[in-house]
Amino acid sequence: MQSSDDDTDQTYGYFDDQNYEYVITTPYTPTPWINYLGSNEFYGIISNTAGGYCFDRDPKFRRLTRYRYNSVPLDSGGRYFYIRDENDFWSATGRPATTQLDQYSCRHGMGYSRFNASKNGIATQVTSFIPLDTKAEIHSLVVTNHTQSTKSIDVFSFIEWCLWNAEDDGANFQRNLSTAEVEIEGSTLYHKTEYRERRNHYGFYSVNRQLDGYDTNRESFLGPYRGFDRPEVVEKGQANNSFARGWSPIASHHLKLELAPGESQSLEFVLGYIEVSVDHKWHSKNVINKQPAKDMLTRFDSHEKVMDELGKLNRYWRTLLCKFSVETPDDKFNRAINIWNQYQNMVTFNLSRSASFYESGIGRGIGFRDSNQDTIGFVHMVPEKVRARILDLSSTQKFDGSAYHQYQPLTKKGNANIGGNFNDDPMWLVLSTTNYIKETGDFSILQEMVIYDGQEQATHDHFDHLLRAFMHVINNLGPHGLPLIGRADWNDCLNLNCFSDDPNESFQTTQVGASDVAESVMIAGQFVLYGQEFVDLCQQVGKIELANRSMKHIEKMRKTIEQHAWDGEWYLRAYDSRGKKIGSHKNSEGKIFIESQGFCAMAGIGLNDGKVEQALRSVDKHLATDFGIMLNQPAYSQYDKYLGEISSYPPGYKENAGIFCHNNPWIIIAETMLGHGEKAFEYYRKITPTYLQNRQTLLKTEPYVYCQMIAGKDAANPGEGKNSWLTGTAAWSYYAATQYILGIRPVYQGLSIAPCVLPSWKLIRVQREFRGAQYSIEIHNPHGLSSGKITLSIDGQPVEGNVISSSSFNGQHTVIATMV
Ligand code: BGC
Repeated sequence: MQSSDDDTDQTYGYFDDQNYEYVITTPYTPTPWINYLGSNEFYGIISNTAGGYCFDRDPKFRRLTRYRYNSVPLDSGGRYFYIRDENDFWSATGRPATTQLDQYSCRHGMGYSRFNASKNGIATQVTSFIPLDTKAEIHSLVVTNHTQSTKSIDVFSFIEWCLWNAEDDGANFQRNLSTAEVEIEGSTLYHKTEYRERRNHYGFYSVNRQLDGYDTNRESFLGPYRGFDRPEVVEKGQANNSFARGWSPIASHHLKLELAPGESQSLEFVLGYIEVSVDHKWHSKNVINKQPAKDMLTRFDSHEKVMDELGKLNRYWRTLLCKFSVETPDDKFNRAINIWNQYQNMVTFNLSRSASFYESGIGRGIGFRDSNQDTIGFVHMVPEKVRARILDLSSTQKFDGSAYHQYQPLTKKGNANIGGNFNDDPMWLVLSTTNYIKETGDFSILQEMVIYDGQEQATHDHFDHLLRAFMHVINNLGPHGLPLIGRADWNDCLNLNCFSDDPNESFQTTQVGASDVAESVMIAGQFVLYGQEFVDLCQQVGKIELANRSMKHIEKMRKTIEQHAWDGEWYLRAYDSRGKKIGSHKNSEGKIFIESQGFCAMAGIGLNDGKVEQALRSVDKHLATDFGIMLNQPAYSQYDKYLGEISSYPPGYKENAGIFCHNNPWIIIAETMLGHGEKAFEYYRKITPTYLQNRQTLLKTEPYVYCQMIAGKDAANPGEGKNSWLTGTAAWSYYAATQYILGIRPVYQGLSIAPCVLPSWKLIRVQREFRGAQYSIEIHNPHGLSSGKITLSIDGQPVEGNVISSSSFNGQHTVIATMV
């Protein structure tokens, strides 16, 4: 079903809501439009032409297949299927062969991608997915002969092995060109590089049919100096049966099919990962133990079995997405909330900022700040995973309450290269934890014993970790009594203590300033907001004395902000290492920043005396554009080492006056707190992909997911997107839309309902699973209001206030909320 949006440009694709798919209609999208496979530990990234790679847990240390970032042509390396019909050949996924297809589409769905192609009356369909609880990519290929005559077709599969450590694979050629080893048995091509020494894992690529040939050496398959677009083996129609020893190992199957008119045949390819115990590594001398691979293959040795697994994956996703669904008069809002935003939330939660088309999978692991924030969009879907993640993050916290900025998923140890001192990091742990408890009612997470700094001897309960996070802020205050910024706060690029003149240095880890002067108003607002959450939590668990003591710190901070951080029409951003104001009308550039407006407003600082109202008006006046709200204005026009990386970007990009979508929801939330439903919605739709279909060409990034950054008004090409998929924008937008626009917000006692919507929305229906009960909620807005009071009834019984008390309910319930 094609979307009926009349403002949709559809140059490259369209939504198919019925199937929860985005349909891409050309292999030549402006950037590779990717999807993610896998929901637990084993993941793949896959573009609309099957480019990308897969890995087990850690895209740096356990990468199975090679991908070339920054390649020419773009998007090189993937799971390729070449179809050869007489002297013609093409790619079943649209590329890398350049032969023009008669028909092509790629359907990115929830955890799978499906490629349809046809040429010369031969139709192919490749369905790629990672089955639940399986460490393998499945590529199911169906070939159909739509001609009137019998066809003899050659199929060649292709993947290239990565030698496991992706960073080393791209650098250490003097060693790597000598180490590759493979084994071949039947139709399975095994990759066992370094297995002879310290590794106890191998990869394999198999197909459920007898082979007519194979290749495992890349140059033999491609032919000298050729690219993936026209491998020599495919051109001549016969595999070389090459056996890789060193150089670049690949896996390619050659299969000859004979298809009668109208006949279809299917081939099930399995690209798997096996880990064996050290005691069971070998079958015999130098022969790997293949039994676990063979066991896995029996699960996927027929088309029926494979489709059955796909069915399970589809049902898994349908069930997950049913936990929260909405029906408003706006289809684009419904599509974002019901399908794509939730899907992106799962992906960002799973992968943090590690592997995407923009993140190489070797640089960044799991970010402390990023992953804590990611939980707020995902906790309603799989709360158990969020619980485990929060505890993992907690275990990388240091004893003084600070945190490693990142950790590697495989080791779960803080990343020493980057270290800590990003002073906003600690308080995000309070956000994720309190939000988790409000969703689940599970206070037991607080009693979990968690190590500090990855060290066994330092173990305290998780509550202690939150307390230390809180204390870290007040133990690190600057000259005005505002929190010290450290290397950076949320804005990684505002580096007020790192003065670098040397292009070979990192902007963030070169610490030259005294670091006890520069202060962050963003962290101050964050401390008031999440500090208050900490106080509420203390009260919930009966730590009244601690709550009272903590409250005093918060009150003091609130006063300090009012005294030292109000600039007249908006909140300052920071004080630099020399005590100078940043984000003040007195500055010539960088007069106003979004982060401090967002956090001080969400914390309600100046709510009663008009400061919040005034700050938001200033955001609207100075930062809002047609494409979203910019991070700062005016942009910095030259590099200033006292500001750091922010001033390194050309104006309009990234943190230098780009539209950094991540923080737009902070303003959306603040607007709803003032009851401004229309303004909140206006900001929401500017960055939400379901509303951007008529901008596919300008945006360039996938029009089904949020991107981190849209170029701001000072850029060469305002409105152009970058860094799609792995961004905190996903969780924050979802949180803003569901908890503040729809206003369905978990609180300790239950579910509170406080909508702030478009006045034209007269009826909203929500299905919400919450703490074991299923609520059908109807929000009626007979007077066309944006916000205000509501009257509530549950199963026909009127209720005082606006909270559904969770302890009273399980099973199915009908809630009617009327805005009055
Ligand atoms: C990082 C975030 C950071 C943001 C703003 C992103 O690339 O992942 O941690 O808050 O940039 O600097």
